This record gives sequence, C-alpha cells and structure tokens, in this order.
Amino acid sequence: MAIEKVGVAGCGLMGSGIAQVCAQSGFPTVVREVNEALVEKGLKSIEKNLDRLVEKGSLSASDRAATRSRLKGTTKIEDLAGADIVVEAIVEQLAAKREFWSVLEPLCPKQVIFASNTSSLSITEMAVGTSRPQNFVGLHFFNPVPVMKLVEVVRTIATDNAVYDQAHSFALRLGKTPVRTTDRTGFIVNRLLVPYLLDAVRALEEGVASIEDIDNSMKLGCGHPMGPLTLLDFVGNDTTYHIANIMFEEFKEKRFAPPPLLKRMVLAGWNGRKSGRGFYDYTDPKNPRPVKLV
Ligand code: CAA
Ligand code: NAD
Repeated sequence: MAIEKVGVAGCGLMGSGIAQVCAQSGFPTVVREVNEALVEKGLKSIEKNLDRLVEKGSLSASDRAATRSRLKGTTKIEDLAGADIVVEAIVEQLAAKREFWSVLEPLCPKQVIFASNTSSLSITEMAVGTSRPQNFVGLHFFNPVPVMKLVEVVRTIATDNAVYDQAHSFALRLGKTPVRTTDRTGFIVNRLLVPYLLDAVRALEEGVASIEDIDNSMKLGCGHPMGPLTLLDFVGNDTTYHIANIMFEEFKEKRFAPPPLLKRMVLAGWNGRKSGRGFYDYTDPKNPRPVKLV
C-alpha cells in the first residue's frame, strides 16, 4: 500500500509542524485537535510559517496556496480514518495516547499505519492497547519540525517489517533524514539530550551560574545553537517534565529525575515560550528576559 493521505493528531508545537511538512511534501493532510479554537490556532501558526517562507522567497505564492489547500483541520477523530498513516502528536501522557489509539483504531481500515511522535513513551505500550500492534511505529520528529532534518524511526518487537519500511520511506518523502532505532525509552536523541537539559536546571538550582551565563556558556563554548535553558523553554517545560518522569520511571537513574525547580515551574504554568514565561519572560518575544527563579 502506498502512503497517499496523512492524518495528524494534535496541532500544537509538533503536530502543526508535522502537518505543515506533510502538506508541503504533497500529501493531503487532515489534522485533528480537541476543539475549534485549537484547530484555528494551529492552522494560523502554519499559515504564518508558510507566509514567512514566501517572504523569504523559499516558497512560491502558488506553492503556498497549494500547500494550504492540502490541509484540513477537524475536531472529529473519524476524519483521521481515511488516512494511510496517522501521526499522533498529542500530549506526552500514556493514558491520553492509549485512549486516543483505542478510539481511532477500530475506525480505520486494516492496513493503516499508526505512528507516534512520542519523545519518551513506549511504542509497545501504546500498540498493545489495540488489536493490531504490528501496525505501530514511532516517528520521532524534532522541533522545529520544518527545520530539523532528523526523524527517528522506531520499531517494536511486534512491528511488521513492511510497515517499518514504509514508515522509513515516508520520512524520506518528507525530505527528512531517518535513522533506525528500537523501542528503548528516549530512543537515541533524548537518551543523550534529556540528562543534559536536566543538569542545566540543577546547575541553576545549585547557584553555579545565572540563566544567561549557563546558556551563553553552551552556545559560545560548545557551539550549540541555543543554550539548554532556552532550549527547555523552546521544547516546553511541561513536555520535558513528562519526559523526565517517564525516563526516570523506566531506568530509575538519577540523571533522568526531574529537578524540583522544573516541577514547580510546571505547576505554576511556566511552560516556556508557548505560555509566555519559563526560564525567560517572552512578553517581548524578540527580546526574552531571564526570570528570577533562585
Ligand atoms: N518554524 C519554522 N521555521 C523556523 C522556526 C519555526 N519555529 N524557527 C526558526 N525557523 C527557521 C527560520 O525561518 C530560518 O530559516 P532560513 O534559514 O530559511 O532563513 C531558520 O530556521 C533559522 O532561524 P533563525 O535565523 O530565526 O534563528 P536561529 O538561527 O537561531 O535558528 C533554530 C533557530 C533552528 C530553532 C536554532 O536555534 C536551533 O537549531 N535550535 C536548537 C533546536 C533543537 O535542538 N531542537 C531539538 C529539540 S529536542 C526535540 O525536538 C526532541 C524532543 O523529543 C523534545
Ligand atoms: P503541545 O502541548 O504543544 O501540543 C499537544 C496538542 O495535542 C495540544 O494542542 C492538545 O490540545 C492536543 N491534544 C490533546 N489530546 C488530543 C487528542 N486526543 N486529539 C487531538 N489533539 C489532542 O505538545 P507538543 O510539544 O506538540 O508535543 C506533542 C508530542 O510530541 C508529545 O508526545 C511530545 O513528547 C512530542 N515531542 C515534543 C517535542 C517538543 O520539542 N516539544 C519534540 C519532539 C516530540
């Protein structure tokens, strides 16, 4: 079966980027959110991105119009059932993801591929909640999706070989560079990245340096495009907090334990750039100001 139509669940930070890239790559794409306001918000952010590409001259006005015409927003889960592959990018919580797949799966024809963009949850744990675990893979995109080239393509012990190969070719058709990995919590990138991000929070908590100096050190000393605290705000502190809890639960290693400061920031709703405040205050998004936290 060739992949011709795509469904995306969630139109937040990642789902909107995934839907944009699918539509830009020529796939009719349906993206589902939980209410109309969130559908609107997600589609607006895609339109803004496409407009920026047109302004820069990297997308023609006619390609922008064609891309937009391939995108449809919906709140109805059944609208995803006509897709050949469904990429799920909803909140990083197992119960929510299992609930989503258990409702969607019975609505879909038997060959549909089910892909999760999870950062840290087990694909197997999602797949076994349905009657066709062989159709499940992980397709782990990186933020911002239109820019980052990598996709981790994750197989479980139950994944059908043909399904895995199709998911791998799909990532290539999106213009991405896929890497093959297995269903080990955190896959390749987050296994290495998450302890580093959490350690930056611990360094701040322990008074090693200020927010700006921690960030500048990793930018200027190691050539990272963003410092770790800026990156935490960019990823979403709530998302990293969920990821850390899941990884700690799996490995029981201190390096994955969420620092108390991160927990308190999430409790306060200081989730980073998307909520206007995290390690930095984004009242003026072009000039983020560090927040006094310790
Ligand atoms: N959406 C689409 N395009 C974007 C964008 C966004 N949100 N943000 C930036 N861009 C584009 C810009 O339009 C620009 O494009 P051109 O080169 O064609 O002009 C390009 O990216 C560079 O942007 P800027 O010049 O504005 O800024 P920059 O040079 O600082 O780059 C960045 C921005 C690409 C985000 C860069 O800072 C970066 O690479 N940061 C690190 C990102 C990272 O590590 N991501 C992985 C997070 S971890 C993860 O995703 C996994 C997980 O499970 C949590
Ligand atoms: P987000 O909070 O920006 O967006 C999640 C969206 O999913 C929300 O808009 C929410 O309304 C929606 N949603 C919740 N339940 C839904 C359902 N049943 N159907 C449709 N939509 C639903 O989060 P995000 O950062 O986009 O993360 C989404 C997924 O991508 C998570 O699994 C996360 O771990 C993963 N991920 C995140 C990043 C990152 O940098 N933020 C990078 C790679 C992977």
